[in-house]
Amino acid sequence: MTSGGARIPVIGLGTWDLRGRTCARVVEQALQLGYRHIDTAEMYGNEREVGEGLRASGIRRDDVFITTKVWPDHLASTAFERATKESLVRLRLSEVDLLLIHWPNPRIPLAETMGALCRMKQAGFARHVGVSNFTVPLIEEAMRLATEPLVTNQIEWHPYIDQSKVVAACRRHSLSVTAYSPIARGRAGNDVQLRRIGLNHRKTAGQVSLRFLIQEGAIVIPRTSRRERLEENSAVFDFELDPAEMDEVRKLANRRGRVVDWSGAPNWD
Ligand SMILES: NC(=O)c1ccc[n+]([C@@H]2O[C@H](COP(=O)([O-])OP(=O)(O)OC[C@H]3O[C@@H](n4cnc5c(N)ncnc54)[C@H](OP(=O)(O)O)[C@@H]3O)[C@@H](O)[C@H]2O)c1
Repeated sequence: MTSGGARIPVIGLGTWDLRGRTCARVVEQALQLGYRHIDTAEMYGNEREVGEGLRASGIRRDDVFITTKVWPDHLASTAFERATKESLVRLRLSEVDLLLIHWPNPRIPLAETMGALCRMKQAGFARHVGVSNFTVPLIEEAMRLATEPLVTNQIEWHPYIDQSKVVAACRRHSLSVTAYSPIARGRAGNDVQLRRIGLNHRKTAGQVSLRFLIQEGAIVIPRTSRRERLEENSAVFDFELDPAEMDEVRKLANRRGRVVDWSGAPNWD
């Protein structure tokens, strides 16, 4: 997908909670199977292993799109630069493809953080920049403050959550949407309705969840520690859900659908 000058592979590997040798192994396997997009963050404590997996894969650095994120404790100007440089040291890269603000932090003026984020691009530490977990009002403010194109808003999105308002705001600003927890942390993989829809296409419930998001226009970053699921999750480009099936999946959304805990997150609305 193209957004703000960035070409972002529509499927990426999520790495939250993958640690140590498992993380390096899964990243290496994913790249060898054809994945070209890896999502990490300073908070995941696995940037070193993501870098190791990348080098072990033998895939050229420039052929892989690497995203990392700066944690909300580090959104003041000086801390932001330090955190970015530390991520690069751990990854053993001179630049990432995409640098995101992981979560907003209302204790630090957004103008300061957006300034720091855009400077990371200007300094050559990130090819592209963007945000994560930004609400509609925050997207509007970020777009006003950014001096570099923002290329994505990474948000929780799967069949159990209605993100139409945030997605519409992103579209208004030509900002791509990256869906995190796209299998709802495994829940979608066991869903009876998704499984039934999948039977029409000889696909699994997890594949229906990912395909649904892709047809909604999202980039998806499913995580798995299993090789067979790396293959399963990337085999989503050879079938299409029809409008009735899309509607059926949309109807699974409900107000308690979140799987990621926002209780500690700041309320900006
Ligand atoms: N920006 C943010 O604030 C934020 C927040 C959360 C996540 N993220 C990013 O998004 C990535 C993905 O989200 P996530 O890790 O929360 O959840 P997810 O990708 O929706 O789900 C991962 C879980 O589902 C299982 N799974 C994977 N493929 C499956 C399939 N085809 N069928 C059934 N189960 C399957 C995995 O188990 P196995 O390992 O056993 O396969 C794992 O337990 C993260 O890893 C991270 O990179 C970002």
